[in-house]
Amino acid sequence: MDIQAMRRARPSARGRVEIRDLSVSYDGHAALERLHLTVEPGEFVCLLGPSGCGKSTALNAVAGFVRTPEGSVTVDGEPVLGPGADRGMVFQQYSLFPWKTVLENVAFGPRMKGAARAEARRAAREHLELVGLGGVADKYPATLSGGMQQRVGIARALINRPGVLLMDEPFGALDAQTRGFMQETLLRLWDEIGGSILFVTHDVDEALLLADRVILFSAAPGRVLLDLAVALPRPRPEDSFADPAFADAKKQCLRLIRQESRRAFERQGGQFA
Ligand SMILES: Nc1ncnc2c1ncn2[C@@H]1O[C@H](COP(=O)(O)OP(=O)(O)O)[C@@H](O)[C@H]1O
Ligand SMILES: [Mg+2]
Repeated sequence: MDIQAMRRARPSARGRVEIRDLSVSYDGHAALERLHLTVEPGEFVCLLGPSGCGKSTALNAVAGFVRTPEGSVTVDGEPVLGPGADRGMVFQQYSLFPWKTVLENVAFGPRMKGAARAEARRAAREHLELVGLGGVADKYPATLSGGMQQRVGIARALINRPGVLLMDEPFGALDAQTRGFMQETLLRLWDEIGGSILFVTHDVDEALLLADRVILFSAAPGRVLLDLAVALPRPRPEDSFADPAFADAKKQCLRLIRQESRRAFERQGGQFA
């Protein structure tokens, strides 16, 4: 059995996301129109698409941040009616509380759920160690590098043991080396903790290195243009780029993204030379 099949076969497999007929409009403009998308328990799915096509909107709808969605979103069979601890969110901006220490930031979730202070801090320490940050528990976020702050954000999301981890261009602001390290860390955590991941990126290489499936959205309103199973064995080393299957998938994604970006640009009144 390959690792993906093993993960799915775990009795505790969680994180099935079902998006059905999801439409979201802002001020009369459709950001998403009748989106259908399913994430299987334990699956790592990357969303790609031109800027403004509704990727963040889709993620926010699963997180429960969209006020008036039409259609339905369920997580492990439960309708999403608002934010909840079964879904963890990691944003591109680190969005930590600057006035709290790293440890207090991570302990915040359990405290909100009513855990005693000592218990919340113990769990927070454990999760900081999981992301390799045991040594900076008492520092303040502003004193850490971007990559470290993002690891705190991941620890803060994971401490609730969400079935689904939602990540919106989480490594977009990091330098290439740090990004590579973060990708490895994330894959290790995903393997250890289980659950599914829905990950937005505009980086095709990143999507193909991380995902079981890559979903490519059309220009707004976003629809699924391509649903691509990434048939590369794991672990995927750096030289996966040299694999012909990788190169083919990348070409296909880039061609569609370029086509859709052009359509979006022209629709806004722009003209290509
Ligand atoms: N809170 C909001 N208010 C108004 N318009 C929004 C809001 N969020 C997103 N939009 C619009 O919805 C469309 C999709 O945005 P978004 O989901 O952020 O796309 P992506 O993440 O793919 O770049 C864009 O046209 C964007 O301007
Ligand atoms: Mg976005």
